[in-house]
Amino acid sequence: MENSGSLFAAFLNSHDDEKWQAVIDTLLPVIHEVDRRATQIWLSFYPLALLRALQEADDVLALIQKLRLKGSYLLVEQIDASHHFLYGHRYWAAVKEAVTAFALSAAAPKSLELAAQIQDVADAVAKKIQVDATLLTGITAVAFMTLQQVGIEEFQAASGEIHISKKVASKTPEQVLRQRAHDPGQGFFGFLHANLKHYKITFNENVEDACFPLISTQHLTTGAATDKRDYHTQDPRCIVGEGPIPVECRSAACGTCWVGILGGNANVSRVADLEYHRIKEFGYLDSEERKPVIRLACMTQAEGPVSIVIPPWNGVFGKYLRLHKEQQARSAYGKD
Ligand code: FES
Repeated sequence: MENSGSLFAAFLNSHDDEKWQAVIDTLLPVIHEVDRRATQIWLSFYPLALLRALQEADDVLALIQKLRLKGSYLLVEQIDASHHFLYGHRYWAAVKEAVTAFALSAAAPKSLELAAQIQDVADAVAKKIQVDATLLTGITAVAFMTLQQVGIEEFQAASGEIHISKKVASKTPEQVLRQRAHDPGQGFFGFLHANLKHYKITFNENVEDACFPLISTQHLTTGAATDKRDYHTQDPRCIVGEGPIPVECRSAACGTCWVGILGGNANVSRVADLEYHRIKEFGYLDSEERKPVIRLACMTQAEGPVSIVIPPWNGVFGKYLRLHKEQQARSAYGKD
């Protein structure tokens, strides 16, 4: 007889990326503004279909090479850390504990809808730790998806530690939102030419000096390259002297420079046709929006402060996953 954990795993596994997108769309209105884009970005950073393709591959190393996967693309390597850019990350220990208990519970859930189950767990945690539920819904959805990708044993075994300092953790959501929109003025980057308009691009909201200046009309990767600090040691994809955003081609051809736009979306340029098609081709996002949550930094300009998130990996897998899905549909059809 199946236990409750495996029944819940089977239920979770009935959700693919499209169903997850529908779940997040349902939840978005009840996710606090501070985490609305962050939750959508996180979902794009960790696509389920890619994990499934790797799990089903006869020769996984060959597939990794074929899809040009670089960096940390597996959630199992970063169960506690992948969501560091969500405000709700600070409540991770409580959320992880509640999601684990929910997954292992023998009690029947109140609803058979995943969105409703996520909301119920978020509400229960909110009541327990006395925090507004809107701050917990995004991180609870992330916890459910993480559980689906890594399995209950790995999920439960993760320490639950958070990856932000006490100072960052003490900020209110309003403070975070204010800082995202804040233009520090020309004096902030006093070493730059005073006559040129420049903007602050933040690439890690949890680290005080994780920002670089961007001159009007420059692309994000050009601005990032003015930051000569060492990023290669933390992320080997970063080229020494080229700043915190990994780059290769600088022409929308390789997919290395994808980023999430966390704040200041009104300040970034619209997606031109080339970038729009490439984002889909790489597999990062399938959206008709011209100001989507995922951008190629080498194609994106800004006219104001922007806060970005740099994913810890990159690849080119959109076409492969599409063909893989079509092939699976054909074989399923052939079996009927
Ligand atoms: S650096 Fe290659 S796509 Fe941007």
